[in-house]
Amino acid sequence: APISKPKIGIVTVSDRASRGEYEDLGGPAIFDYLQTVLVTPFEPRVVVIPDEQSLIEAELCRLADEELCSLIITTGGTGPAARDITPEATEAICQKMMPGFGELMRKVSLDKVPTAILSRQTAGIRNGSLIINLPGKPKAIAECLDAVFPAVPYCIDLLG
Ligand code: MTE
Repeated sequence: APISKPKIGIVTVSDRASRGEYEDLGGPAIFDYLQTVLVTPFEPRVVVIPDEQSLIEAELCRLADEELCSLIITTGGTGPAARDITPEATEAICQKMMPGFGELMRKVSLDKVPTAILSRQTAGIRNGSLIINLPGKPKAIAECLDAVFPAVPYCIDLLG
């Protein structure tokens, strides 16, 4: 039987990008990163949604439960502003949190920018899916993923 390619969700959370007021640069930056680091092909599932908690939760659930993504990476909505709600949505739908991801990403990001402390980015597990939050700045994507990606394949293996 053919071995199916792993599916990876790429979720941009941004009011303005979802309205088309500016180009989404975060989603493509995640895609480029994955293409560079992954040796085997994968099937991307790309979405751009506004900063609405119920929409973020529904999209994360769909990608995990229906699309069966092994990995879901979000970008945006992790800061202190009123509409930044991605970590709450992630926590609401995860069965298990993986706090080390957020801790490490903030730590390495602080060597680049003092504002890294403003991100509340986290990670967690929903069913067989590892969900990782990244900040909205496109340059934050490689800065954060470089730190945690060595542990990602093993984490997904452990989910079975
Ligand atoms: N982390 C990295 N690596 N690089 C960055 O430029 N920007 C910070 C922070 N984390 C940044 C970063 C800033 S300015 C903010 S406000 C927070 O992430 C939250 O960003 P978000 O609300 O777009 O998710």
